Amino acid sequence: MDLFDSKKKFSEPIEMSDYLFSLERQLEGEKTEKNVYVARVTQLELEVQQLKKQLEELTKPAFLVAVVTELINESQVIVKSANGLEFLVELRPELGLLEVGERLTLNQRTLSVIGKLPSAKDMHVHSMEVIEKPKITFEQIGGLTDEIRELEEIVILPLLYPEKFDALGIEMPKGILLHGAPGTGKTLLAKAVANKANATFISLTGSQLVKKFIGEGARMVREMFALASQKKPSIIFIDELDAVGAARNDSINGDREVQRTLMQLLAEMDGFTEKNGVCVMAATNRLDIIDSALLRPGRFDRIIETPYPNEKARTKIFEIHSKKMNLNTGIDFTELSAKTEFFSGADIKAVCIEAALTSLRENKEKVSMNDFLKGIKKIKKEEKNENETKMFS
Ligand SMILES: Nc1ncnc2c1ncn2[C@@H]1O[C@H](COP(=O)(O)OP(=O)(O)OP(=O)(O)O)[C@@H](O)[C@H]1O
Ligand SMILES: [Mg+2]
Repeated sequence: MDLFDSKKKFSEPIEMSDYLFSLERQLEGEKTEKNVYVARVTQLELEVQQLKKQLEELTKPAFLVAVVTELINESQVIVKSANGLEFLVELRPELGLLEVGERLTLNQRTLSVIGKLPSAKDMHVHSMEVIEKPKITFEQIGGLTDEIRELEEIVILPLLYPEKFDALGIEMPKGILLHGAPGTGKTLLAKAVANKANATFISLTGSQLVKKFIGEGARMVREMFALASQKKPSIIFIDELDAVGAARNDSINGDREVQRTLMQLLAEMDGFTEKNGVCVMAATNRLDIIDSALLRPGRFDRIIETPYPNEKARTKIFEIHSKKMNLNTGIDFTELSAKTEFFSGADIKAVCIEAALTSLRENKEKVSMNDFLKGIKKIKKEEKNENETKMFS
């Protein structure tokens, strides 16, 4: 018992000091661990800062501005960019709910949505494309020289020098209707006219006008004219005019709304004079079905056809669309032009793109004559298939 007690007395301080020692060691260990964590946190904070900076950099470059044209669901919308292309884009939840007509900024390369733009006045006018001054110039159009000259006289000069025309007392045509096969350069021409006249280009397609709810189409027409006179000089461009302006046919149901829109369009055209710096242009590839009320004097009283390009024009169009390509020597544009009878400007552009893709696929640095010939074959084949499906459908 004695022995036991003395042992106990003796061993207690030792145990205590052991214990203390181990506690100290543990504390030390934890301190080092803490230091490691603190260092890690600082490092991570630095990384976060760097990433934030990178993110800022990434979101900085010039953005593409696009207008929401259709809501698919909460996380997807269809947007239309200034060049007319439509994209289906994903939305981040932070953007909240969007409305048709709202403007978004997109990353140019990835087209991911960066953010919303504060609603500008223009955007009262839903799904309308407004370009301050289109970038297309007459130099980018092959052929169509007579058409360009005519437009110069009846649209560009009156818009640029309204006072001169006022003084002369000449009445200029109110509306110009461009008609021709698809891809023959109607939209291109209208944009180039706006560029030359330093005018705002406000465009809308007929099908957009008729898709709307009751009263919406007519309102859009009204707002479009209001916006045009606000932003004058301006050119109103209604693409696919046939969608609103097809001859009235009572047998078709649901046509009343379309007629209402058409009546509004006619009323607006009657109500404005060319003196207020607004010119109305429209395009169609179905002149045959356009309502005659639209073609009367004071409405679309000047009709200009965009024909398929002739051989000389085709050569020029080939040159225009391959200008930025890295071309091999010995490309004979006249020969290419001779091989592309009945090709539209858009077809020729497609041939050029196809040629560039072929050379890319074959890992060549330069585009050769052969690539162009392959392109022609491909586009011809596609057209043939298209015609065949049309025939059998
Ligand atoms: N005369 C031309 N010169 C140069 N490029 C042309 C010409 N015609 C058409 N193109 C090219 O074809 C593309 C389509 O032309 P555009 O959109 O003007 O055709 P469109 O007549 O409006 O067709 P759609 O009836 O289908 O609307 C243009 O982007 C342009 O690059
Ligand atoms: Mg067009």
